[in-house]
Amino acid sequence: MYLTKNQERLLAGEKGNAIAKMMNLIIKIGVVNNADKLIQIKSAQIAGVSYHTVGDAIFSFFDLLSSDKVKVKVPSWLNPAGMDRLRWKEMGVRTIFAEKQFEILKHYEEMGIETTLTCTPYLIGLEPSFGDHLAWSESSAVSMANSFFGARTNREGGPSSLASAITGFTANYGMHKEENRIPKTFVEVKAETKTLSDFSALGYWYGEMFGDSIPLFNSFSSFTIDEAKMLSSAIAASGSVPLFHVEAKTPEAKTVKTTEIENKIVYAEEDKEKVYEHFNQIKDHADLVAIGCPHTSLVDLQLINEYTQNAKIKDEIEVWIFTSKLISQDEKASRLIYELEKKGIRVFTDTCMVVSPAISEKFENILTNSAKAAFYLTRDGTINVNLLSLNEIMESVVQ
Ligand code: F3S
Repeated sequence: MYLTKNQERLLAGEKGNAIAKMMNLIIKIGVVNNADKLIQIKSAQIAGVSYHTVGDAIFSFFDLLSSDKVKVKVPSWLNPAGMDRLRWKEMGVRTIFAEKQFEILKHYEEMGIETTLTCTPYLIGLEPSFGDHLAWSESSAVSMANSFFGARTNREGGPSSLASAITGFTANYGMHKEENRIPKTFVEVKAETKTLSDFSALGYWYGEMFGDSIPLFNSFSSFTIDEAKMLSSAIAASGSVPLFHVEAKTPEAKTVKTTEIENKIVYAEEDKEKVYEHFNQIKDHADLVAIGCPHTSLVDLQLINEYTQNAKIKDEIEVWIFTSKLISQDEKASRLIYELEKKGIRVFTDTCMVVSPAISEKFENILTNSAKAAFYLTRDGTINVNLLSLNEIMESVVQ
């Protein structure tokens, strides 16, 4: 792999052992993937934040980095943590967990990383521009960055995105190269995509069927940023699709020649129904509604408020919404959150239903509108979910 003189010096340890190790990690990944060179990135989005998912192993990584007091070279921000930083006790998170979580956040902050704690940085003013090279690691954010914004990022691991944040480089392979961004499958979507959960079901179906093959979907009548985020999250969860195109909607779709795509498939109403049936598992009554995978936007909060009108939530069920701190601090959003909380809905920030230990320790039967959340929550077999539209969920839980 070609390295510039500056990159060679960093690798040789001119700026310290930690940076040399980070360069070495990026280069190793590049070599395995036949990268020709390292390229500069505009930003890094770093997963591996929740103590629930990273455990104590992360602290030896921090020890290595803190010995050289390294700082990030590009704007860098964090994925959700394992708890709401202010309301962790209310979530039922244990003190020992909270202490570890705060320690992790402190380490990241010391490196100059913004503790945004969200998987939707593009909803809080951190959206990438077309053609930007990035090192993002949360799979739904990766899929959004590539597909909706036309930026370029592979799905980085937590350590590799951190290494890129610290060095400012990533290896030039995969999604960074034009030739790897061409769709291989054309999907004619015949099933209705009316609700956010319909977009989620479509993503889940495609990812499960086709793994990581890049699709081109025929145009949808509507394709808002919230609909795109539901499709992105599910397609990158059941499969590992880092990029999709939508005719007339996503920025790179116009350069695609549909006639050159050999593999053509239809997504029919019965395919959609099968996804909903697969996640129709609750035998008894639900004990939690979990919304906000990916993190809710202002529009999502407005919808939830609309669907619940002036009603109160039934006593036998809890409703937890997850969003980012910055969204919650928006003037309109904070008014909506005040309204929602009056109805008995809790709006937590900084975390989500998948990366917090609070969910699996407390709940067994969960209603959600996210196929990604449904997929991860049911992975170890202790939780049942029903996948429903937001409207159906809210109608079922108000008094
Ligand atoms: Fe985000 Fe958590 Fe879902 S990180 S995409 S809300 S699993």
